Amino acid sequence: MLTVEHESSRGASGGNTIRTLLTQTVYHFSEMIKPRVSALCAVFLPFLMCISAVTAGGAQNAQLASKEINARVESLLKQMTTEEKIGQTVQYSAGFATGPSASKLTYDELVAQGRVGSMLNVVGAEHTNHYQHIAMEKSRLRIPLIFGLDVIHGHHTTFPVPLAIAATWDPEAAETVARVSAREARADGINWVFSPMVDIARDARWGRIIESNGEDPYLSSALARAWVKGYQQGDLSNADSVAACVKHFAAYGAAIAGRDYNAVDMSELTLRQIYLKPYHAAVEAGVATVMTSFNSINGVPATADPFTLTQILRKEWGFNGFVVSDWGAVAELKNHAIGDGPTVARKALEAGTDMDMEGNLYATVIAEQVRSGKIPESVLDEAVRRILRVKFALGLFDHPFTDVGPRYEPTPERRAIARKVADETMVLLKNDPMEGVGNLLPLPPKMKTVALIGPMADDALNLEGAWTVAGNPKNVITLKAALTQRLGEKLLYARGCGLLSGKDEAALKGITFTGTSSVSNQPISDDQKSIAAAVEIARKADVAILALGEPTNWMEGEASSRTTLGFTGAQEQLLEAVVATGKPVILVVLAGRPLELKWAAGHVPAILEAWSPGIAAGPAVEDILFGDVNPSGKLPASLPRAVGQEPLYYAQMPTGRPARGDLSHMPRSAPEKFVSRYMDEENSALFPFGWGLSYTRFSYSQPTVDRAEIPVHQFAQDHKPVATVGVDVKNSGSIAGTEVVQLYIRNTSASVEQPLRELKGFTRVALAPGETRHVTFPLGFDELNFYNAELKKTMEPTTYDIWVGGNSLATAATSLKIIEEKSIKRSRIGARGQMVDAHIAFCNSLRPNHLCNR
Ligand code: BGC
Repeated sequence: MLTVEHESSRGASGGNTIRTLLTQTVYHFSEMIKPRVSALCAVFLPFLMCISAVTAGGAQNAQLASKEINARVESLLKQMTTEEKIGQTVQYSAGFATGPSASKLTYDELVAQGRVGSMLNVVGAEHTNHYQHIAMEKSRLRIPLIFGLDVIHGHHTTFPVPLAIAATWDPEAAETVARVSAREARADGINWVFSPMVDIARDARWGRIIESNGEDPYLSSALARAWVKGYQQGDLSNADSVAACVKHFAAYGAAIAGRDYNAVDMSELTLRQIYLKPYHAAVEAGVATVMTSFNSINGVPATADPFTLTQILRKEWGFNGFVVSDWGAVAELKNHAIGDGPTVARKALEAGTDMDMEGNLYATVIAEQVRSGKIPESVLDEAVRRILRVKFALGLFDHPFTDVGPRYEPTPERRAIARKVADETMVLLKNDPMEGVGNLLPLPPKMKTVALIGPMADDALNLEGAWTVAGNPKNVITLKAALTQRLGEKLLYARGCGLLSGKDEAALKGITFTGTSSVSNQPISDDQKSIAAAVEIARKADVAILALGEPTNWMEGEASSRTTLGFTGAQEQLLEAVVATGKPVILVVLAGRPLELKWAAGHVPAILEAWSPGIAAGPAVEDILFGDVNPSGKLPASLPRAVGQEPLYYAQMPTGRPARGDLSHMPRSAPEKFVSRYMDEENSALFPFGWGLSYTRFSYSQPTVDRAEIPVHQFAQDHKPVATVGVDVKNSGSIAGTEVVQLYIRNTSASVEQPLRELKGFTRVALAPGETRHVTFPLGFDELNFYNAELKKTMEPTTYDIWVGGNSLATAATSLKIIEEKSIKRSRIGARGQMVDAHIAFCNSLRPNHLCNR
């Protein structure tokens, strides 16, 4: 019998990070949480080693497992009536609606009767205290309410959207954002945040990609752990900790055709190997709660799926917190046609959905079924236990109220953190020299005239980013404000066009979270006229900065799927008109999702992906444009050439008919035709996963592995690193910079086919000009295992190809052989070869539109 501590035990280190400057050591997950010791069964077969995926998991959150808390829970449970128990499983929105409609009930009365366990969307200490006083003073058992809220990218201090934070490849940045958010939320009476969202998102049509960590399970898992750590701080009873809620379980991001709420259909192997990993990482990090997803998985709605909610989450992973449904998802099970109200409520509760968010179904149809014996009381008891445990761990029974203080506004200190995080999120996509001008970025300190053009340049609401509840656009410093302060009269400004055209813009402005909508009375803008005015100011300027994107408010996030991924409204037309002036153009893309930038990539020399940056939008973009900060962000999701490529991700599976070489033209022969390709577009991303340039250049040596061959059985003994990959990374330019060094592997021969590349390590390295640093990555079972056809976590004799570099096209390579025999051959340390320049920028500049196909 072998023991395995956790499935994916290593995260990544933060270098030049928010809280600490460069730490070169690779960050071990075990340092973040106490490792659980759970027994996984190991099965030795003649030539392969398997570890069963089906295991009895230990408790993941030690606090929730504490004897003292559980004794208090049991003693309280004994005193509860069936109605009071059901009350704990009920959550209402007594504030605004974050779904199609909200219940409008007499909440004061229900709380006094002990018929509500939780509220969401009640914000502000005076409001939460109002309900808490009723619960603590009028309800029979005085059980405190737990208040939940969507704190997605900051609370009052609005940070960049989560996808942008993922572009930092810096778990410490995510942790810092979570910590600041927790403090601000707690001061507002919120003790539970519906974050992090770790749904793997490989389809940019899906609007909720902005809330995700992007396409990769390894990166997303590292960030998931960091978000949980930041919110919960390893101790839920801290006055400024909040319970985190990892969502949406499970596989919500794989909605068919990228259409939100749509069904998900995937093999269990893919589910386990890719989609479940980040949720599992959050559970291992001790997350206190999990939210179900709206979708079905292989025909079973996730909110009533015993396989994911009980078998995997509880039995295999040992999750010991509670599960809340998504908004209305229990009641919406009726639309999935798996039964009437009572039936779907029973199915959800029995499957493991402990709390009904705004479904108003547990409240109305469970009691009768418990009384009649249709639902065993023990099932209800278990749900209540799980909820009460979290309330006790948060200290709510002892400190139920929140001190009422002045309404929070971002302090200068938090603004500085927001700016630093936003700086790290910026991804320099392209910075080609322009004839007669050279590289446009960074801009020289002494600029003559700059034209700032575009509907995103001064749009505080949309720069703040989608899905903020407590955020206030008034706190956002726009690009126009920041550049005006820097350049004074040298800055010319024109909006150029609207974010949407004609009536669409007015309609979008009218929609509110409260569910009402009205069409704005503002006159519909004339895009042609405003484009002509923008062209005029571009002509007068030395350089034009275009700030374009998509409306983040209501066109990104939930229920915001798109079938096109270009700039909205007349923005593309505006871009083309300004480029046609022949003036140097810098494009700043301000959007939470990957947009299709094909024309821009072919015609604009410098492109900065700035995402939805939050309150520090202007200063952060300014930092990068003027070189006060050297860009270091890397794409957490591939940018497509065409929407038809979606879902698009780097970790593609092999095919029997791979397409190689230049796919930019129609096939001219049978070998060019009968391969896995498109007739009208290349396969590769326009800008691939991991991509991001710097104002300096980084070079990589030939990576080496400290052991050339390793017997497979050695990986079974423990989950410490078995081999180490080393590489020298050099800053070969003349300014300081931070590189995200990335390690990819390919298992070249397995019983089940494996992706062409998989990320298995990363670290941020800050380097002075000319400085070289030796970077190491551990490789062990956690990095090298995969699920075999029997769904067992496995390693087999094989050769792993290994690449290290600055993006997913990295070319500097080595390999590691896993052998059958148990005799250990002498380790062979590969000689460090010549420095390999893996900076792909030069390739891009040679073939601007083709970005170095693999
Ligand atoms: C969203 C969740 C969110 C919940 C509560 C739902 O519509 O899908 O992500 O946490 O509402 O606001």
